[in-house]
Amino acid sequence: MTSTLRSKRFDLLAQRDINKETFVEPWAQAGLIVADSPADPQPSLTLRAGAVIEMDGCPQAEFDAIDRFIASHALDLTLAEEAMALPSAQYARMLADINVPRAAIARLIAGCTPAKVCDILRGMNVLEMMMALAKMRVRRQPANQAHVTNWREHPALLAADAAEAARRGFAEVETTVRVARFAPFNALAILVGTQSGRGGVLTQCSVEEALGLRLAMKGLTSYAETLSVYGSEQSFVDGDDSPWSKAFLASAYASRGVKIRFTSGTGSEALMGAAEGKSMLYLEARCLLVVKGAGSQGVQNGSISCIALPEALPGGVRAVLAENLLAAMLGLEVAAGNDALASHSSIRKTAKLMLQFIPGADFIFSGYSAIPKRDNLFGGGNFDAEDFDDYNVLQRDMQIDGGVRPISEDEALRCRHKAARALQAVYQELGLPPISDAEVEAATSAHSSDDMPERDILPDLEAADKFMASERDFVAVIRALQQADFPDVAANILEMGRQRIAADYLQPAAIFDADFSVRSAINDANDYAGPGSGYRLEGERWREICAIPQAQAPEGFIEPHRAPPLSRLAALGPAAKGSGREVVLALGPAFGRSLGFTIGGLGHEDVLKAILSGIAAEGLAARIARVYHSADCAAIGYVAARLSGSGIGIGLQSRGTAVIHQRDLAPLNNLELFPQSPSLTLENYRHIGVNAARYARGRATVPVAVTIDNGARLRLIVKTALLHRHETEAIEPDTPPQELRFDWEPA
Ligand code: 5AD
Ligand code: CA
Repeated sequence: MTSTLRSKRFDLLAQRDINKETFVEPWAQAGLIVADSPADPQPSLTLRAGAVIEMDGCPQAEFDAIDRFIASHALDLTLAEEAMALPSAQYARMLADINVPRAAIARLIAGCTPAKVCDILRGMNVLEMMMALAKMRVRRQPANQAHVTNWREHPALLAADAAEAARRGFAEVETTVRVARFAPFNALAILVGTQSGRGGVLTQCSVEEALGLRLAMKGLTSYAETLSVYGSEQSFVDGDDSPWSKAFLASAYASRGVKIRFTSGTGSEALMGAAEGKSMLYLEARCLLVVKGAGSQGVQNGSISCIALPEALPGGVRAVLAENLLAAMLGLEVAAGNDALASHSSIRKTAKLMLQFIPGADFIFSGYSAIPKRDNLFGGGNFDAEDFDDYNVLQRDMQIDGGVRPISEDEALRCRHKAARALQAVYQELGLPPISDAEVEAATSAHSSDDMPERDILPDLEAADKFMASERDFVAVIRALQQADFPDVAANILEMGRQRIAADYLQPAAIFDADFSVRSAINDANDYAGPGSGYRLEGERWREICAIPQAQAPEGFIEPHRAPPLSRLAALGPAAKGSGREVVLALGPAFGRSLGFTIGGLGHEDVLKAILSGIAAEGLAARIARVYHSADCAAIGYVAARLSGSGIGIGLQSRGTAVIHQRDLAPLNNLELFPQSPSLTLENYRHIGVNAARYARGRATVPVAVTIDNGARLRLIVKTALLHRHETEAIEPDTPPQELRFDWEPA
């Protein structure tokens, strides 16, 4: 083979989105391996006097900080011996088995070491892991989290996008900053925005932890998931942290009534050059045991910002599901990732999503980008605002609750306007740099930052600094909303504050339902145990997901094709078999009667004229008959051929499908079939007439040049089915074919 020869197919494949990705072969020493590194330890645990003296092959004297934290805080030592003794393969089977309740597994997992849980997961494929996630997820009903940011950091746009995200059903909304000093105002904007859209949506502003805590203490945010943990000691050291400091921070948040979850995920240690030759999944198992030991109710994992790294490696997507499952096995709320841009390929990104979407997760996304990609300050956004309709359709297709609902354009505009106006009022009452009416209007209809007028950010930044330095907090915001006549938004923010004191939403996997009632792993515990159990998408929620605004009433498909009966088409009586060189054109039962247009929108009268003029052009006579007993194209054509003196007939359905038939062929055979009715032109119909006549004369024919449109069936199949049903309804089984007269002038 010459080296200059290039395959055009390979050229094309090289251009595909999938080939914009980076793929790399595993390299265990560098931590570029998703599971089962040769350096991963074998599971083991030795206790003496009720304390761990050896874990996963490492003696106590050699424990690093993470080992020590896990050994003293994460393992239930009362059942560790029983838990470690049960074979890993048996755990794997229990996980995949719908007959084993989640509680029975969760009890034992509490006594398993990091290497043991990896050993369990080693034996499971993605399908089994999905079954297990459906069962082990802690909350019964799945939910979703949104990202709301914009590169201009425009407050009115943040508020409007947060309101829309709230209306679209997201239970949590997360923002972040490009410029750290914007943090209080970005937090304020999504607080006012979400609570204008729907009361009870939890919000956070992802920033450096001390600032994050201050925002929370001011009541501007209600949850935090910024508490990153890592699976190797060096990664912690580089982050200036330890498992103990993270645990302390978590209690600082929780003690102020702020919901917290930790963040971890495959790839971070390799990315920080501190993987110690261990696999990503093993390191993540250590992270998750730290999270558990620190007393967190949950975790955001699924690789998160590192997702492209495991996805560059074989088995990466499987390992990410494994880490989600492992968190659920440990009884942690899981915000499952799917947030950062993970693939250029929409096929690949959607396929990956299915691993969390189908089983369900407490949060299927740790941040669905409810904004366009270029406004996403979290590094892209794997699914974004441009995918909203796709996502709604996926829910409707699979009857799966993905935590989102479809909304109408009108609903979106109304909630966006209200949120932007409410924030404008807050800015005015608090003496912050004004938000103009023009900015409110722009935010209402905007898709992205590009649709917003320029805003001078310096006064905003100064005001933000002052706000942070002052004693002002969310109470000032509530008062401002009251004074500016936004009582419902004020009441929602006040209720968010009241809920911090009640603190029921600190329970595992807690979110707020419509009326601020908490839904959590305590009062909505996952009880999946196979078919007929667990969360089922049904009732009002299912109707909501079905009702995408794009879904049309069936009657609307037929309406444009209806017409009064053709006055020029008159019935003459039963059709008789003819003689001589003629072509018979047989029509379907509804043709020119209750229907007047083909599926392609051609008038039935024009189609008749076109076919008849084609026959006439070849100098042949034509007769027209109507078939009553069948709506089937082949049957209609077969009647035409048998009535025809020449033995050549044309069958024509109302929707425009045509066939040229010959008497001595089998009924379902034919000379030429034209199933592409949407593409047929009047010129094509004329050509059909010509060809039929030429068959009758025994002349050679030129095939009718029909446009091939492979999308036609996809676009028109509903209409096709309904038009055919209409024709079928016009069937009169006992009426024999009738001869028709058609008054027309050849063109
Ligand atoms: N492990 C730990 N923390 C992570 N984050 C993102 N991905 C991971 C991960 N795999 C945290 C980091 C980042 C923020 C968006 O979330 O702190 O800055
Ligand atoms: Ca998040």
